[in-house]
Amino acid sequence: MEGPRCLERHEMGSLETLVDTVFMQGQAGVMRRAFPALFSEDNLANILVYEDEGRIVSHVGRTERRASLGGCAVRVGCVGAVATYEEYRGRNLASRLLERTCQDAAASSVDFLMISGDRGLYRRAGAASVGLDYRLALSRNEAQLLRLSEYALRPFDAADLPFWMEVYERKCAHFIRPLDDWNWALETRLCQLVESEFLSITLDGAVCGYTVSHVSSRDGACVVAEYAGDDAAVLSVLGPLMERHNTQTVRIHVQGTQAALIGMVARARVRMEPVHANGTLLVLDFPRLIERLRPWIAGRVGMGPASAMCVRVEDGRVCFQMGRDRIDFASPADATEFVFGNHQRGRGEGGFARAFPVPSLWYGLNYV
Ligand SMILES: CC(C)(COP(=O)(O)OP(=O)(O)OC[C@H]1O[C@@H](n2cnc3c(N)ncnc32)[C@H](O)[C@@H]1OP(=O)(O)O)[C@@H](O)C(=O)NCCC(=O)NCCS
Repeated sequence: MEGPRCLERHEMGSLETLVDTVFMQGQAGVMRRAFPALFSEDNLANILVYEDEGRIVSHVGRTERRASLGGCAVRVGCVGAVATYEEYRGRNLASRLLERTCQDAAASSVDFLMISGDRGLYRRAGAASVGLDYRLALSRNEAQLLRLSEYALRPFDAADLPFWMEVYERKCAHFIRPLDDWNWALETRLCQLVESEFLSITLDGAVCGYTVSHVSSRDGACVVAEYAGDDAAVLSVLGPLMERHNTQTVRIHVQGTQAALIGMVARARVRMEPVHANGTLLVLDFPRLIERLRPWIAGRVGMGPASAMCVRVEDGRVCFQMGRDRIDFASPADATEFVFGNHQRGRGEGGFARAFPVPSLWYGLNYV
């Protein structure tokens, strides 16, 4: 058995067989088509594997992207398609691949990993549930309350792409997408492994937002896996979207930073369910992350306290200090929940409560 090591170009077929077997009942080519950024020959350095007698038997892969969290530039590793053949499971192969992923990603200045799963494998490495987010589920009647007649939906047109990019980049927390990410999604029309409808929202014919949606095979609801644009426009088209998909319910994920949209929903007296972002998040280097987030922190507590803030990691404990205030966490996972927000956790006091949580990301088209 050889590993952990990076995938070699000639082994891509063997890796595809592994992930198609584990996730797609062996349907050949599905995973590579769904995740072209991950299973790309330009991404071999980020695909870690074990190989046994010429066969790839275990895999932990990632894409690396930049992102903006409230205007602060960070580097994110998106980990997905983690798989080991059944007969090789329980030998710590995935655990060792994840450990090496953390080392390699940290060495290439990645600040945290977003992992599209939640299990012991990730929790043991320090991953946590984050994001003070909400799930909004509307019936047709409720959607009617949020409807403004001037907004319309129509299929995406190639000329709409600059508008889509512009409204996506207005999100408080967003990936800084290379054109390739958009092109891959638009070519495959897949989002989060599902065939999706890509629709532009228009006002008097001008594009002011978009939705990427599908009908859930689990419960028949219309799920909007990514959207962007004016809040009123997005809320307004949820009813028409249900009509288009012929469903009785629509679901969208609302990021905790979307204050205006949350306010509009509250005014319509519709309840939202508190949820976290999907998957888990693993911070690779707390001091470096805080350094990157210092502009956001300064925006909440002022330049003096922000420049005084420091974080130390000792014996697995994480300690934040800002002037005379200090807050201690028993583990990196606890500290991660504090930094990025968690509905079950308090927000600290004073400057800490103003500075944290920082905005957290939603995968959308960047899901792996
Ligand atoms: C998840 C998967 C990749 C794990 O692969 P693996 O090579 O067997 O992983 P490991 O041997 O490192 O760990 C397997 C199990 O051993 C046990 N284990 C390993 N190290 C352990 C430790 N130090 N302490 C306690 N338990 C441990 C755990 O039960 C662990 O599973 P967990 O994640 O449920 O906690 C494999 O089961 C798989 O392919 N599953 C199907 C696809 C899938 O679900 N992928 C993950 C998507 S989120």
